[in-house]
Amino acid sequence: MRRKLAAGNWKMNGTSADLAQIEAIAQAHTGALSEIVMAPPTTLLHRASEFTKTGPVTLGAQDCDKHENGAHTGDISAEMLIDAGASYVILGHSERRADHAEHDEDVSAKAQIALKAGMRVIICLGEELEEREAENTLDVIAGQLARSIPADISGDRLVIAYEPIWAIGTGKVPSIEQIAEVHDFIRARLEERFGSRIARSVRLLYGGSVKPNNAAAIFAVDNVDGALVGGASLIADDFSPIINALDAS
Ligand code: 13P
Repeated sequence: MRRKLAAGNWKMNGTSADLAQIEAIAQAHTGALSEIVMAPPTTLLHRASEFTKTGPVTLGAQDCDKHENGAHTGDISAEMLIDAGASYVILGHSERRADHAEHDEDVSAKAQIALKAGMRVIICLGEELEEREAENTLDVIAGQLARSIPADISGDRLVIAYEPIWAIGTGKVPSIEQIAEVHDFIRARLEERFGSRIARSVRLLYGGSVKPNNAAAIFAVDNVDGALVGGASLIADDFSPIINALDAS
């Protein structure tokens, strides 16, 4: 059985004052059925770990370097993230791909180093609007999957987030049929490549404008095992109903 997962990606938002939101989530969901991952900026990880040592929340980082350590000024290794309190790392987010020219091969290298260090990885995939309109979505996803996911994975440490780029921060959400189609496709591709035991244990998250008012419908889709939430994860009062909808699904 795959445990449902609600992950909050704070992106480049949040300072010390916002730690209270993580504390509030931890307190409000002590009995959560779902796993809850909060990914604040790296600067807050260590202090956030105070609220996550026990309880329902685990911490995630938003990126890690593809090297283990060494002369890479300004970069952060998987080992450092673990030391700061993170057990998950989001990799290949479309904003990293766009802002830092990260390619699928970089994402795969980062995943390998993070998995080797003992982290769980949330690898992000998703098409541009032009690709969706040209009916290339499944081809794009197939290519990203083939290149971004390393060859030797253990299913329970891999999470894949399908985040259509045109749905991120826009309030636009694909139809339920479109979400189902992509998630079913990802599961089938994983099965072809890794076999059904591993494919069945990988959690597939949907991300892109998930809000309290659309979460339940998205979570009712087969092969949606949770969500990667941006804007609505910043405030506990917005994120809590999404976690509750996941628990109820
Ligand atoms: P929004 O929920 O703000 O659309 O962001 C989604 C996202 O990019 C999560 O990683």
